[in-house]
Amino acid sequence: MKQPVVSIVMGSESDWPALEAASKVLKDFGVPHEVRVLSAHRSPGPLRRYVEGAPRRGIRVFIAGAGGAAHLGGVVAAHTTLPVIAVPIETKSLKGLDSLLSMVQMPTGVPVATVAIGNATNAALLAIQTLAIHDRALQRKLAAYKHRLTAKNLKADRMLQATLRGRS
Ligand code: RP5
Repeated sequence: MKQPVVSIVMGSESDWPALEAASKVLKDFGVPHEVRVLSAHRSPGPLRRYVEGAPRRGIRVFIAGAGGAAHLGGVVAAHTTLPVIAVPIETKSLKGLDSLLSMVQMPTGVPVATVAIGNATNAALLAIQTLAIHDRALQRKLAAYKHRLTAKNLKADRMLQATLRGRS
């Protein structure tokens, strides 16, 4: 197993169903990563020690997923100079708007790149794009991914056109 370069941290094990997509995308791109449950509120000391020790162990990007009063991304960012990508987890009471606003409204000087509510896939892609700046192989994989997106979209368009032609 290669040394992890991306850290996925979540505030609770209940966030894993939403964050599993990030782990899957990183795996598909061959990016070694680790996954931890550490909370800004429930385990602040261990979280700080983990974040501060991460660069020494080779971590280059953090993905932080949390819901509700979602301060995890901000607290991780407070303890590191590495980029932090936050995933607002959808909540029952406020549908994730609480998580989104908690994550996105960071004070100047402590940025957190927040993706759409529940969009762990985009968090992983953004982490990969960050790593790809100095990695040609990852750049090629990202280009191939985008080609597949385009092909899928164009196929959907062709099918829709055929259906509409059939109706007229
Ligand atoms: C947040 O509180 C976690 O990130 C989670 O989304 C939310 C609820 O946690 P549990 O009560 O399900 O453990 O800190």
